[in-house]
Amino acid sequence: MEATSGTDTRGILSEANAAKREEIVEMLQRAYWMEIETVMSYLANSVNPDGVRAQEIKESLEQDITEELGHAKLFAQRIKELYGIVPGSEDFSAEQSYLQPPDEQVDIVHVIRGVIEAETGAIEHYTKIVEATDGVDPVTNDMVIAILHDEQGHRRLFEGFLREYEALGLA
Ligand SMILES: [Fe+2]
Ligand SMILES: [Fe+2]
Repeated sequence: MEATSGTDTRGILSEANAAKREEIVEMLQRAYWMEIETVMSYLANSVNPDGVRAQEIKESLEQDITEELGHAKLFAQRIKELYGIVPGSEDFSAEQSYLQPPDEQVDIVHVIRGVIEAETGAIEHYTKIVEATDGVDPVTNDMVIAILHDEQGHRRLFEGFLREYEALGLA
């Protein structure tokens, strides 16, 4: 048999790994949409809340918008590198029912819980990507581990906010 080492050395980009690559691209496309929806939700929730207590949360979310958009860009770039296509807006379908504006804009606990749920969803999905890419696609693996780290930080921060509200009897 003639050696096919020319393609074999391409790792996840090789023809032999086409099926695995498609699986990873699909997971990355979902991750991309999760980040885009998070940008929308955090943008709205960094503006809508009223009250003295809301200020810290709004500022924190405003910073996160940039970080989540950065994640979306990373996912988009990696989709392309894996020969996938970054989906168009018509493919988008919203999932973050828990991050819709509350009835009362002073209901900051609603926002905090919503953020924790969004971050938890991201952590769950990104953990699956880390598992799926382990040993087969070290670049995606490495990238998603770093993003996962960011999301764990976000969740921990908002868990701290929730703890404060619980201690005050407000949650
Ligand atoms: Fe993110
Ligand atoms: Fe996040």
